[in-house]
Amino acid sequence: MTKQTLPNTKPIMGRIIKKWEECEDTFGFLIDIPVKVKGAKPGQFIMLWIPGVDEYPIGIADFENNVLEIGVSKMGVGTEAMINKNIGDLVGIRGFYGKPFQPPNKVNHLIIGGGFGMTPLKLLTTYLLLREEKEEIHIFEGARSKNRLMYLDWFQNLHDQKKLVFHVSTDDGSYGYKGFPTVDLEDFLQKSETPSVIYAAGPERMMKVIFDIGKKYQKVIDMQMSFADRYMRCGFGLCSYCAVDPTGWRICVDGPIFNAKQIEQIEDFGNYRRIETGEKQRI
Ligand SMILES: Cc1cc2nc3c(=O)[nH]c(=O)nc-3n(C[C@H](O)[C@H](O)[C@H](O)COP(=O)(O)OP(=O)(O)OC[C@H]3O[C@@H](n4cnc5c(N)ncnc54)[C@H](O)[C@@H]3O)c2cc1C
Ligand code: FES
Repeated sequence: MTKQTLPNTKPIMGRIIKKWEECEDTFGFLIDIPVKVKGAKPGQFIMLWIPGVDEYPIGIADFENNVLEIGVSKMGVGTEAMINKNIGDLVGIRGFYGKPFQPPNKVNHLIIGGGFGMTPLKLLTTYLLLREEKEEIHIFEGARSKNRLMYLDWFQNLHDQKKLVFHVSTDDGSYGYKGFPTVDLEDFLQKSETPSVIYAAGPERMMKVIFDIGKKYQKVIDMQMSFADRYMRCGFGLCSYCAVDPTGWRICVDGPIFNAKQIEQIEDFGNYRRIETGEKQRI
């Protein structure tokens, strides 16, 4: 029988069937899930359990035929332990959790991000490309340098096939144009006449800049952003470690994707995040 989700409390053990270096300090994995689960929606996440080490949230890059694709960037002990895993090893998965992106029809889709934020944006792109409605899709990806761009070949191929427009930038100019992806986003917004929706995932400081740009243009009818730069413990609404002020919304169940109206109400956005102790820290 196909289950809607995996159990909340007990991870299902999945086997790594493929591993590759996606870009510097980031590895891609395909994990075979041994129970039938309905498709993941773009923007949702899993809790990844590395036995004997830690459990933490990871975005979903793809999910097809019960095989899950994730991308893990080296941050500390937990992510390094995953990166050290190999084909055949077992890891625990809970999920799929959280509210997904909700793309409307008849708009330009402007997808912008960097770092591991590109993981949910890859699944969002796949989802949009499969829809019957054919609208313009623009990807704005930025990184410090060429070797830190995630899914570079994947997006570049789709651009070459004219399925989307890939605007790529690096801080050092080693690929694409030199500068931040927000520069090209604003340039596009100045020239375009069509209503647009912005989807963003990446460091929260970058998302705050994107949000402030988007607010200046009436043609931006919504902004949907992934709050993945946040600490989570349970992943399904129990512990409140991921709550934001003053709304008290828990990122894991009320997010991680929030729309523009919701983001306006989150005073913590771009200002404060909670750390492992529950204390607030300036972003
Ligand atoms: C919804 C969501 C989606 C994410 N998707 C991805 C992804 O696709 N790929 C990816 O590489 N990373 C992703 N992350 C971030 C990832 O969870 C953290 O980088 C990871 O937990 C760090 O653990 P660590 O032991 O390696 O590092 P640590 O040294 O423990 O911590 C490094 C940093 O990660 C933060 N962190 C630690 N534990 C957690 C936790 N349980 N929840 C959130 N942040 C934590 C710390 O506050 C610190 O800022 C996502 C986070 C969220 C909330
Ligand atoms: S991580 Fe526990 S409530 Fe969100």
